[in-house]
Amino acid sequence: MATRGGEYQKDIHDRDYESPFLETRLGAAGLVSAAGRESETLSGRWSFAADWYDTCRRASWFAERARDSRGSLLPADWDWDAWEDMDVPSSWNLQRPELHYFEGSGVYTRTFRYARGREFERAFLRFEAVQYRCTVFLNGTCLGSHDGGSTPFCSEATAALREDNRLVVVAEARRKPERVPPENTDWFNYGGLYRDVLLMRTPSAFIRDWFIRLSPGSLDELRLDLEVWGAPGAAEGSARLRIPELGVDAIAPVSGGGCSLAVPANPELWSPERPRLYEVELSYGEDAVRDRIGFRDVRVEGEEILLNGKPIFLKGVCLHEDHVTLGKTTDEATIRAAIAHLKELHGNYLRLAHYPHDLRFARIADEEGVLLWEELPVYWAVDFANPRTYADAENQLAELVLRDRNRASVAIWSIGNENADSDERLAFMRGLARKARELDGSRPVSAACLVDNERLVISDRLAEELDIVGLNEYFGWYDPDFSKLPRLLENSAPGKPVVICEFGAGARSGTRGGALGLWTEEYQAELYARHLAAFDACPYIRGISPWILYDFRSPRRLNAFQAGFNRKGLIDADRSTRKLAFRVLAEYYAKRG
Ligand code: GCU
Repeated sequence: MATRGGEYQKDIHDRDYESPFLETRLGAAGLVSAAGRESETLSGRWSFAADWYDTCRRASWFAERARDSRGSLLPADWDWDAWEDMDVPSSWNLQRPELHYFEGSGVYTRTFRYARGREFERAFLRFEAVQYRCTVFLNGTCLGSHDGGSTPFCSEATAALREDNRLVVVAEARRKPERVPPENTDWFNYGGLYRDVLLMRTPSAFIRDWFIRLSPGSLDELRLDLEVWGAPGAAEGSARLRIPELGVDAIAPVSGGGCSLAVPANPELWSPERPRLYEVELSYGEDAVRDRIGFRDVRVEGEEILLNGKPIFLKGVCLHEDHVTLGKTTDEATIRAAIAHLKELHGNYLRLAHYPHDLRFARIADEEGVLLWEELPVYWAVDFANPRTYADAENQLAELVLRDRNRASVAIWSIGNENADSDERLAFMRGLARKARELDGSRPVSAACLVDNERLVISDRLAEELDIVGLNEYFGWYDPDFSKLPRLLENSAPGKPVVICEFGAGARSGTRGGALGLWTEEYQAELYARHLAAFDACPYIRGISPWILYDFRSPRRLNAFQAGFNRKGLIDADRSTRKLAFRVLAEYYAKRG
């Protein structure tokens, strides 16, 4: 086959061009806690191009080779300064009309200056989330690649940094069967650097991660686990924990890169009614971090969910990270508005479906007293037999747990949603349940489980691995025979708490006309009333999160009522127009107390 002469453009024959970038995997093992750590934002206006054929990575644009080895100018196909700007963070789909359905590789680039702050300073790039595979290049050096579209990751930049720096980031957003989630979902695939990008500086020896909570089974003792990274020999020394309002000021010897510490304390326990947070300060050598932490105990006993030893009923609703103008990007006002809608429903709980939401959500929920179900996008037909898919899922789980395990509001880790039963799926989910408990034994583990529709009973081998059985059911909608619901609930005896993590019906806001017609607000409201009455009669149901608070984009939804949106929201996609069912749920939760 004719090949072009010279060194230029040899990439056109390289079918395996991506492998070199996958040699350094960025993941949970490299995640540096950003909590309470000074950092500089790299968010803002970056140059951007939709790289439809992935040429940046094929032809090494990041190397900025403008001349060949003899010094002759080359006809480069890239030109950072000629490209249009793109906001970081943003979902590129909503920034330019031609990008609405773009799922390929987007190339982002910017420059920034860096002056070393202290001797032996270390510096880390932190990406709060990038959809889906992110490859990072700093001054022409590949720092590695990360898979997973909703969790944070870091890359140490210390050695590659200069005074003037060029950062090139490729975000490849394709949906693929082996990914987590796989290629078929019921939500819109937003792409890009859609959450913040930070530059964090640390001393040579510093606190990489830390986890503080009530000691297991205790309400008057705190447990701290802390991990340090540092120059050789710096892994020794001691760490200091201070919680001034609790009179805690403790020193813990650090050896082998970490320490564990149990200290007596009598915190006012965090709860939805009294979301009490404490200033926690940690120091190690020159490093110091702080965070606002709530202390509370969530556990399962029999068929009850206990918060601080007392049974609690989770009055909630599901929420996607989908905004009609922001896409999967969010901001504080949007988060607070969703919590305000939950409180208008007299709710105390949100299911953040179907992937980790922005880290600010749990921080604000800590302040507002909202309990959260946080979930891994192990959704529908995952490639359960693929070890690389498992490694991806387990890494995303670890990044989520490391990011949020200090958040009092996070009550439940969910490891999946509506996955068909198989031996491979059971092994996959068993591994995730084990990993979740290894990283955080302080919270119940759940997932949306299956129903045996023949025998009409809750029946899923996965339930044995879970503390709480999640149940999605759509009787009266996908299964028109609503009478199956009370029979299912009577036939089942799960022996542990069940959370109805989905039920609902589609309704186009403003479509009215009697409770018999699908897509009318009356039909949806009537179905809510019937479900809620059935749940009232079932003692092992300890929580409810109907599907869903807001209408959201879904390319699967193409009839005239939906027109590219899933219309099961209690509120229209305008996040303002409430449907009749909103009041039905609000009155139920108000009565439920
Ligand atoms: C499923 C699924 C959701 C989906 C919903 C629906 O249960 O978990 O992601 O959007 O049903 O069909 O509307």
